[in-house]
Amino acid sequence: MSIRDRPALVAYEFFAGGGLAGLGLEGFRTLFANDMDAAKAASWRANHEAAIAVGDVWDLTAADLPGQADLAWASSPCQDVSLAGARAGLDARRSGALWGFWRLIEALETGGRAPPVIVIENVVGLLTSGAGRDFGAICEALAGAGYRVGALEMDTAHWLPQSRPRLFVVAMRGVSGPVAAGPVALFHPARVITAQQRLSGRAKAAWVWWSLPAPPRRNLDLAALLEPDDAVGWFTDAQTGALLALTAPLHRDRLEAARASGERRVAAAFRRVRIEAGQKVQRLELRFDGLAGCLRTPSGGSSRQYVIVCVGGKVRARRLTGREAARLMGVPDTYILPRGETAALKLMGDAVAVPVVQALAEGLLRPALEGRAVSPGSACPAPT
Ligand SMILES: C[S@@+](CC[C@H](N)C(=O)[O-])C[C@H]1O[C@@H](n2cnc3c(N)ncnc32)[C@H](O)[C@@H]1O
Repeated sequence: MSIRDRPALVAYEFFAGGGLAGLGLEGFRTLFANDMDAAKAASWRANHEAAIAVGDVWDLTAADLPGQADLAWASSPCQDVSLAGARAGLDARRSGALWGFWRLIEALETGGRAPPVIVIENVVGLLTSGAGRDFGAICEALAGAGYRVGALEMDTAHWLPQSRPRLFVVAMRGVSGPVAAGPVALFHPARVITAQQRLSGRAKAAWVWWSLPAPPRRNLDLAALLEPDDAVGWFTDAQTGALLALTAPLHRDRLEAARASGERRVAAAFRRVRIEAGQKVQRLELRFDGLAGCLRTPSGGSSRQYVIVCVGGKVRARRLTGREAARLMGVPDTYILPRGETAALKLMGDAVAVPVVQALAEGLLRPALEGRAVSPGSACPAPT
């Protein structure tokens, strides 16, 4: 039976935002989704047939979750992995949304409905926050519930022109995806290995090095995803001059070289606060490597990304648009974005990149749930 003929696997999507995880989970049907942000939920509804429950994850109970899911996906907020959340009381509600999710998994377990596969997505800082104790607590909780657990670091830059390393903690019980004998260089860099070594007894014993096929070579760069020059608003000369005046010395040299080439060169740039001679200074930092910097939520002026274009010896500057940000997340142009640029950038800056989820679903999650996982070095014949 081909994957197209199969009844879809079923997923619960927590911290669902605009639903980019769901877009990438090919072969899965989202049976339940939750997010507390009403504006993001509106984007979810505009783009998905499935309903979304709007509210705090802590207010949900197992009775709110229909049926039985094959997969529970949790793209928990990055500032909310603090161990404080594992404790009771107000602190838990504020700072430990992930534990609100975990409380539901425990309740499902009590009712015999715990999903065989759980994915927790977060920033790679989760590996080291609380000196590794937060990551340890998550692995310990999963291991304690009988799951085998491993983590992969996946950088969106392998699929799309955006530098966006993210951590995917994948837990499986009663099923297994492909497993490697040890760390796989592309997905288990030194910081993952260090975090694994820091785990204690039960979590370490449950650890598994998940294996994924290497992504094909990326064939897009930032310039390929940008709107045509005449379809976007550019800064005036005065605005461009004021922005470029902030350029850090090393970056100024790169900019000058690109300008002097006379060719069309595209850079992504961020304003950053740096300490120079003991003083805080705003600096513009550019990258001409064909990648955008990691999209962020536009909470302050410094979190908006700029596009700098050198052509014919001139330099032009503008802000990255919401649609361009969506493309940098692998979202098709048919996706309906919120009207305001800030809302669109907030939606995308917080999200998970679609092709990364696709790769995980295709290479690890579906093989496990469909019982067709082959671990490299076990059943797989050596390449000739
Ligand atoms: C990192 S974003 C995930 C976005 C999503 N994966 C996507 O692709 O758009 C985290 C989300 O968690 C939501 N959130 C934060 N705290 C929450 C809570 N206590 N209950 C429910 N949702 C929460 C935020 O509104 C935000 O949309």
